[in-house]
Amino acid sequence: MKLFSSIAILATTVSGTILQNGQVREVVFPDTSIASVAHDLSWRTYAPSAKELSYKGRWDSKHISWWSAPGLKFGFTGDKVAISFGNYTSPSVLIAYRLGGQDWLFTNVTANSTHQLISSSTTGLNLTTQAQLPQTLELRVTNWAYGVQIAGVHVSSTGELFKLKDFHKTLEIIGDSLSAGQYATYEGISSYSWGLAAGFGNVEFHITAYPGICLVDTNCWGNPRGQTYQWYHTPDTSGRALEIYGDEPEVWDFKEHPAADIVVINLGTNDNNTHNNVTNDRYLHSYIEFVAGVHRVYPHADIVLVSLWNGFNAVGNSYAQGGAFIDEIEMVYNHYKHTGFVHYFNTTGILQHNDIAPQYHPTDVGHVKVASHLMQYIHLKFGWELGATGPEVQHDTLYWNNQQNY
Ligand SMILES: *[C@@H]1O[C@H](CO)[C@@H](O)[C@H](O)[C@H]1NC(C)=O
Ligand SMILES: *[C@@H]1O[C@H](CO)[C@@H](O)[C@H](O)[C@H]1NC(C)=O
Ligand SMILES: *[C@@H]1O[C@H](CO)[C@@H](O)[C@H](O)[C@H]1NC(C)=O
Ligand SMILES: *[C@@H]1O[C@H](CO)[C@@H](O)[C@H](O)[C@H]1NC(C)=O
Ligand SMILES: *[C@@H]1O[C@H](CO)[C@@H](O)[C@H](O)[C@H]1NC(C)=O
Ligand SMILES: *[C@@H]1O[C@H](CO)[C@@H](O)[C@H](O)[C@H]1NC(C)=O
Ligand SMILES: *[C@@H]1O[C@H](CO)[C@@H](O)[C@H](O)[C@H]1NC(C)=O
Repeated sequence: MKLFSSIAILATTVSGTILQNGQVREVVFPDTSIASVAHDLSWRTYAPSAKELSYKGRWDSKHISWWSAPGLKFGFTGDKVAISFGNYTSPSVLIAYRLGGQDWLFTNVTANSTHQLISSSTTGLNLTTQAQLPQTLELRVTNWAYGVQIAGVHVSSTGELFKLKDFHKTLEIIGDSLSAGQYATYEGISSYSWGLAAGFGNVEFHITAYPGICLVDTNCWGNPRGQTYQWYHTPDTSGRALEIYGDEPEVWDFKEHPAADIVVINLGTNDNNTHNNVTNDRYLHSYIEFVAGVHRVYPHADIVLVSLWNGFNAVGNSYAQGGAFIDEIEMVYNHYKHTGFVHYFNTTGILQHNDIAPQYHPTDVGHVKVASHLMQYIHLKFGWELGATGPEVQHDTLYWNNQQNY
């Protein structure tokens, strides 16, 4: 029975569709689903509330994930790991997962199912050195609109779970689709926010970003509330959040989680769209109020206001950056300048017109550019070390030339 299930893991694959420049990019995600292991004595099961599990980003009291790139991380011993997903898991949500510092692997998971993510044939398991024990497994939800519910974690009956130590620093990115990774290859884990936060390699992070959302508390592109309301709550503004919570979302308990040391805010691109009826004045005043609110919950955090590039237009025989709320964001910065905890990050000059895809969002390359500049800015300004040591951050960005002359 055991042999059968590991063969099944190797043999069954599922093709997903990722469009690249309008063409299908061939990706094959292995089907990791297995039958329930609830009554199988070769497994040991931990509840979703087990203290050994570290949830990253925002998860609610039912262990349902929200916002962009939420994660789960833990150490384990033994040669297998499976996770059961509860009935609030979205259909076919794409998760990324990896053992130790191996490249990210992908699989679609669904409600009421168990997926075996690690087996004795997982690459890297046998290569682990003594110093790298216990083995670690990290999982991230890639689709910003979807989520998973953790119903249980299973290891070999002779294995155990271990709590991993958190990194000492925490970074939070508050944003909209630009920060959530909409239209990027692997969405949440292809965004500049991911490139920045995961790119440091030695910080904890939350990406509280959702496509279409405004800074101002108003309905924007179907998101019923803006970040000045939603950020204080556990779930995002998705349809699944409305289904589960209606208009009474759980309140996020900031005191129960490590405070952010740096908060990056990239908001206003949706407010700047005439469709959403936000006036310049309302944006300005909401932004000033929001910075005060973020400071209230994270009194020691540095807050970085990101200027909005807002696309590029053809101008005569060339191109020029549009920009949005240029004066207002500078005014928010000037309002708080004397406090020393508010900073202005000028994105002008980082992106060019061909870094924006036809759907108005950065290409994967555009995201990497913004992430790299922000990393260096945070390094130079706040002294954070670039702590990544080699494992990949962005997946499927290995483009190269293998011809010497042409
Ligand atoms: C798996 O997820 C990807 C990305 O969301 C999606 O394009 C694909 O259709 C999914 N595959 C299946 C079999 O549902
Ligand atoms: C999951 O299982 C529960 C209980 O058996 C059932 O009520 C629910 O409809 C299932 N959900 C999905 C999405 O299949
Ligand atoms: C989901 O599962 C839980 C138990 O795991 C159960 O209490 C709840 O009623 C289920 N909800 C649905 C919608 O099936
Ligand atoms: C790891 O070791 C086990 C036992 O020797 C073996 O069955 C398995 O194929 C090895 N896996 C890899 C990836 O080398
Ligand atoms: C914006 O205002 C116009 C005119 O008052 C109104 O028709 C429209 O519904 C408003 N749009 C939104 C998203 O509130
Ligand atoms: C958008 O931002 C531009 C540049 O700062 C500003 O001139 C314009 O008034 C704003 N428009 C809207 C609709 O918010
Ligand atoms: C942002 O950078 C551009 C290009 O260097 C410059 O023209 C603009 O004045 C800067 N904006 C602010 C607010 O410093």
